[in-house]
Amino acid sequence: MVKFDYSNSSIIDRMIYALDDKVKENNKWIEENKDDETQFLGWVDLPEKYDKEEFERIKKAANKIQKDSDFLIVIGIGGSYLGARAVIEALSHSFYNMMPNDRRKTPKIIYAGNNLSPNYLHDLLELIAENDISLNVISKSGTTTEPAIAFRILREAIETKYGVDEAKKRIYVTTDKAKGALKGLADEEKYETFVIPDNVGGRFSVLTAVGLLPIATAGIDIDKLMEGAKEAMDKYKDQEVKFNDCYKYAVIRNLLYNSGKTTEILANYEPSLHYMTEWWKQLYGESEGKDGKGIFPAGVDFTTDLHSMGQYIQDGNRNLMETVICVEEPKSNITLAEDKENIDGLNFLAGKDLDYINKKAMEGTIEAHVSGNVPNMKITIDRLDEENLGHLIYFFEKACAMSGLILEVNPFNQPGVEEYKKNMFRLLEKPGY
Ligand code: PA5
Repeated sequence: MVKFDYSNSSIIDRMIYALDDKVKENNKWIEENKDDETQFLGWVDLPEKYDKEEFERIKKAANKIQKDSDFLIVIGIGGSYLGARAVIEALSHSFYNMMPNDRRKTPKIIYAGNNLSPNYLHDLLELIAENDISLNVISKSGTTTEPAIAFRILREAIETKYGVDEAKKRIYVTTDKAKGALKGLADEEKYETFVIPDNVGGRFSVLTAVGLLPIATAGIDIDKLMEGAKEAMDKYKDQEVKFNDCYKYAVIRNLLYNSGKTTEILANYEPSLHYMTEWWKQLYGESEGKDGKGIFPAGVDFTTDLHSMGQYIQDGNRNLMETVICVEEPKSNITLAEDKENIDGLNFLAGKDLDYINKKAMEGTIEAHVSGNVPNMKITIDRLDEENLGHLIYFFEKACAMSGLILEVNPFNQPGVEEYKKNMFRLLEKPGY
């Protein structure tokens, strides 16, 4: 269950409904083009129209990895890793990788290929030496430098450890069905391969094998995740912004943007949502930041960042809007006990639980930010579980498409990302650059 509250956004219904025609026109475009293989709209009906045979194969592969591996190393960058990490961290034990094996029961999940640091890979190689490993290399293009380098190094390491034939059984490739160097390598080496559909862009791909294999390996129920997304798919079909919270969110952030609120901070009060925010930042940043336009998506983990970014948010440049993700029921709770001495002065909280205190911090912060001219939107989910996460993912994806279309940019390309690559390749003397 996902609820959207914009009563503190400074935007009233009349302002939202003024964009009614634009929303309908964009919704029509989405509906008319969602089956066109040349548009990147494959995510729209994905919660219903996914490859069921592959879905079962994902579960089987996850099962095998759970049986034969201490670690799954997920090699990918951007849209090819953030979604998996967001879901795994949101739904797993806060100290998942550190739990003893008999309590965790499923492999530790480690990420690689999302940076070029020699230190990071060096330290990861030390882990490989001492543990059983599987690799899931994920790249839609199959040519991205960071994961390609990590895969070359890690593949060699596990070939040395297990021999080439056993290593093959521990390598899972998620890539395009036909194109790219990774697809060529997977065919040549006969690695088990999963497909990223042509019409699903990287940052919209978490509900394909890109996210699902690592998520299932971590013991998370991917059927329920898809059910949650399907529920959202049905709920956010309405072309009337009045009845569609997902479109309301898209409209409000655009209205605020046009009034000078050029940065949106996504705030959470659960550390396990940190990577959900990272995923959201990429989704919105790459989709909207182009043609000299776009809301800058920033993220904060509260209350942690109230002690680092709180001053700026309250009192700095007034170009901010804030969207809070509120989780109604915590997975577990702790009540503060009475202390005879009360030296820390906390007895006024005795008998209160941490969730209550966290929620009061949230309410107080929203109040302070709103009075400091930071308009607020709140998205509430009843609990952190597969259904709600699937729902939230779809909510943000659909809102992102609508928001980009209102902004009159193409939300599905990312031409700007190529610039650093060209320079890097020239400096590295890659042939042709
Ligand atoms: O959203 C996107 O398309 C990008 O962020 C890509 O996911 C990212 O650049 C990784 O690309 P690839 O999957 O081709 O390696």
